[in-house]
Amino acid sequence: MARRLPPGARLVIATHNPGKLREISDLLAPLGVDCVSAGALGLAEPEETAADFVGNARLKALAAARAAGLPSLADDSGFSVAALGGAPGVVSARWAGPDKDFSVAMARVQAEIGASADRRAWFTAALCLAWPDGETATFLGRVEGTAIWPPRGTRGFGYDPIFVPLGGSQTYGEMEPAQKHATSHRARAFAQLLVACGGAGT
Ligand code: IMP
Repeated sequence: MARRLPPGARLVIATHNPGKLREISDLLAPLGVDCVSAGALGLAEPEETAADFVGNARLKALAAARAAGLPSLADDSGFSVAALGGAPGVVSARWAGPDKDFSVAMARVQAEIGASADRRAWFTAALCLAWPDGETATFLGRVEGTAIWPPRGTRGFGYDPIFVPLGGSQTYGEMEPAQKHATSHRARAFAQLLVACGGAGT
């Protein structure tokens, strides 16, 4: 059972990205916590040196919690392809290069899959809630699907146009944003966090 976050508690969101702060604050709305970003507090961003999503979320959350003396939440997410041994995985953002061009990253996925018939792919989102005394709670959400080619759809971001979740026919790039947000890897991880940290009724 994770330590609870009572309504009104100040929570540091371990990000310097204002878009991510907004999205995470919205997802945490049922808890009634007071979110502030690591960027707004002037905290340094640690290097994401862990080998997996949970490890990176944990190191970001612990660094912010210790520096601020407040509980902190960090996320780490990415796209994985079975035929590539789980790559790009924790380096999903880096495959887009310095220009953050995801058409380059998606083309690399397709080129590396090559002639393989195995098109299984998945998105993962890890969340870590950390307290200044070093206690942590982690939550993992995953959505399985298929890597398709060519890319389809102009909604979403990152690898969305080449991912069709199992049981569906549209890519995340074609899907209504509300539908993606209700069923995504991120939604699954946040649902677990709300149950574990919000107590009954959330
Ligand atoms: P980070 O979690 O901010 O380190 O970013 C992870 C990277 O994974 C993003 O830049 C995207 O490339 C990819 N990614 C994570 N979630 C999604 C998603 O829902 N759709 C598309 N790409 C995603």
